Amino acid sequence: MACHFSSLDPAASAREADPSLNKAIAAELVNTTLAANDTCIEATGIARAASDNTVLQKAGGLLKADVSVVVRHGRMTVCKDYQRWRRTPLAPLAHYLMRREARLLRRLNDWPHSPSFEGFANRYAFFMEYVPGADLKTAVASGQKVSFSKVVDAVAGLHRHDIVHNDIRGSNILVAEDGRIVIIDFASALYAPKGRPLHPLMRRMRRLDIAGTLKFKHRLTGKALTPVERRLKAKPQWFKGLQQGWKKKVLPVLRST
Ligand SMILES: Nc1ncnc2c1ncn2[C@@H]1O[C@H](COP(=O)(O)OP(=O)(O)OP(=O)(O)O)[C@@H](O)[C@H]1O
Ligand SMILES: [Mg+2]
Repeated sequence: MACHFSSLDPAASAREADPSLNKAIAAELVNTTLAANDTCIEATGIARAASDNTVLQKAGGLLKADVSVVVRHGRMTVCKDYQRWRRTPLAPLAHYLMRREARLLRRLNDWPHSPSFEGFANRYAFFMEYVPGADLKTAVASGQKVSFSKVVDAVAGLHRHDIVHNDIRGSNILVAEDGRIVIIDFASALYAPKGRPLHPLMRRMRRLDIAGTLKFKHRLTGKALTPVERRLKAKPQWFKGLQQGWKKKVLPVLRST
């Protein structure tokens, strides 16, 4: 079966902040009289001083970023910041991850299902549109009605842009207040149109996205997976091998640096 849409994996993330605070953050930040700041460090510092609720995520793992809501040019913006890695041997990798994600967001700028890119803060951080709402995991847990087909459409749309996400899960899909489904966290995503060396792998990678998406079918629709969907949802052997290699070979080396 051709793989033409992507996934959601409700694994626990390192997030510290309660996403349901998003509305409160919005209100509080908009009411502050913060001067516009062009650097993420300054803006984040000021916003944090103004409210403890502005941190959406404190980096909690290897090559993770701090994610904060900041006021920039008078508007609420999200800053994804890898600065904490800047004085470590992983600095080049952190810079690369940040640039990659920014590049993908720019590519998707006219697409309504990703946050728009709003500029670089410095070598390790960038700004993107702040999407008020809740992540899918939280929305589902709080009983909010979310249309599964809208989620599928968003993932399919991403694939139509020749992009695979590679980390589709509840915390990486936002249900905006206006009902829009917004996919975030493109740190592992890949753009591989026809002609690029990795293009032949796209079909397999799309399948991973699909598997992640299907994890939400039962919760959102109350319907069981069909046998074909069950097959698609199972992790393929090559992916299990890759995960094992990453966990047993690559991660220990990175950690030891
Ligand atoms: N544009 C945004 N608008 C609103 N909230 C956002 C936005 N971007 C990120 N967030 C919030 O910050 C959290 C962390 O962001 P993101 O997933 O990009 O970071 P990450 O380091 O890749 O996290 P993880 O590896 O745990 O998925 C998200 O789960 C979401 O709740
Ligand atoms: Mg994430």
